[in-house]
Amino acid sequence: MKPEKTVVLIKPDGIQRGLIGSIIHRFEQKGLKLVGLKMIYMTDEILDDWYAHHKDKSFFTHLKKFMQQTPIVAMVWQGLEAIETVRKIAGVTKARAAEAGSLRGDFGMSIQLNLIHASDSADGAKKEMELIFKKSEIYDYYSITDQLIYSRDELAD
Ligand code: CMP
Repeated sequence: MKPEKTVVLIKPDGIQRGLIGSIIHRFEQKGLKLVGLKMIYMTDEILDDWYAHHKDKSFFTHLKKFMQQTPIVAMVWQGLEAIETVRKIAGVTKARAAEAGSLRGDFGMSIQLNLIHASDSADGAKKEMELIFKKSEIYDYYSITDQLIYSRDELAD
């Protein structure tokens, strides 16, 4: 099975509330591998593309302003079926309705200030990676713990 890559953003509410470490820790503990990490400001240009599917929604302008309140932490996490796994750890969009144990379920109450973004599909992850990361900023490296996290047959192609 081939590992997937997925993009996670720690949004301005997560940055301001001092949750960067807790959020990264949760994904590390799960067994996902961090293969890209940077702090950036989300420009108008990036956000217009990132949230193109929300551009006609009433909350679009507020969402863009919110996403530009502080720099965000952008990450690429890798693992088998990482896209679905990360979305489960994130919890549903409306944080106050998110399951306890998920990041939004444990740390949030808002629909908009929901701490993190997680890619929703392989195509979405590819687009998001290209919007934020250069190819050289994503690292494919061997980790000794791969063998402790997955069985041999899961790791075989
Ligand atoms: P996310 O699912 O990562 O991407 C779209 C974002 O839009 C979502 O997180 C929220 O931050 C925001 N959002 C979604 N629905 C609403 C809403 N009804 N009101 C305000 N913001 C929203």
